[in-house]
Amino acid sequence: MEKVETGDGSPTFYSEKYGETYHSKSGALEETFGKFIRPCRIKELAKTGRVRIFDICFGLGYNAIAAIDAALEENENCEIYLVSLEKELILDRLKELNPCLTHYHIIEKLQFDPINNSYTYEEKNIYLRIKIGNAKETIKTLKGSFDAVFLDPFSPKKNPELWTEEFFREIFRRMNKGSILSTYSCARIVRDNLRSAGFEVSDGPSIGRRAPSTIAKKL
Ligand SMILES: C[S@@+](CC[C@H](N)C(=O)[O-])C[C@H]1O[C@@H](n2cnc3c(N)ncnc32)[C@H](O)[C@@H]1O
Repeated sequence: MEKVETGDGSPTFYSEKYGETYHSKSGALEETFGKFIRPCRIKELAKTGRVRIFDICFGLGYNAIAAIDAALEENENCEIYLVSLEKELILDRLKELNPCLTHYHIIEKLQFDPINNSYTYEEKNIYLRIKIGNAKETIKTLKGSFDAVFLDPFSPKKNPELWTEEFFREIFRRMNKGSILSTYSCARIVRDNLRSAGFEVSDGPSIGRRAPSTIAKKL
């Protein structure tokens, strides 16, 4: 997998398997903050003292770690509970990256839990679990509900199993009322499936290109 420098100077990888980069070439961290952290209102949630985040597709961990940075920047005592799903954690390659994220060192400290096939990190008020496996299946094992969801697979064309109505229903069921799911895609099929699963759908910010991202709210 080739390392690529994106427009804002942050690195990402190009996946030969999917024929896509892990992030927008116009700016990986710009995309993380602009399409996930801000639309999901992580800082506002952190003010309440506790935030539960569901990160679908951990990838290089930018969304997950940026959420930890944002929450702690707002409230250093905030309790952060973050569950990520990921099919293939490329841990060795992540250690080559040095994105401008305060808590990216967490990557070095992840512990493998063979019983639950997960990687975990726990420290004071931060709890992170990355469940390894096909998200279509691992989502069914999740208990509890979330205040914010980052939906960040590869494109609907390349990664269709994570953009279906059936998968969105599984997510919807695990979200608290009033919570927001954010995703970079504004594809018609994605928005139709989100609506069919019960979400109220609206335009999210356009970052790096003209098309908007998508915000899906559980009313
Ligand atoms: C666009 S990248 C995610 C980028 C990531 N959110 C970040 O902040 O760095 C997509 C990720 O989805 C994962 N993936 C693809 N299909 C999957 C599936 N069915 N279940 C779980 N993970 C999957 C890939 O392995 C890849 O790491």
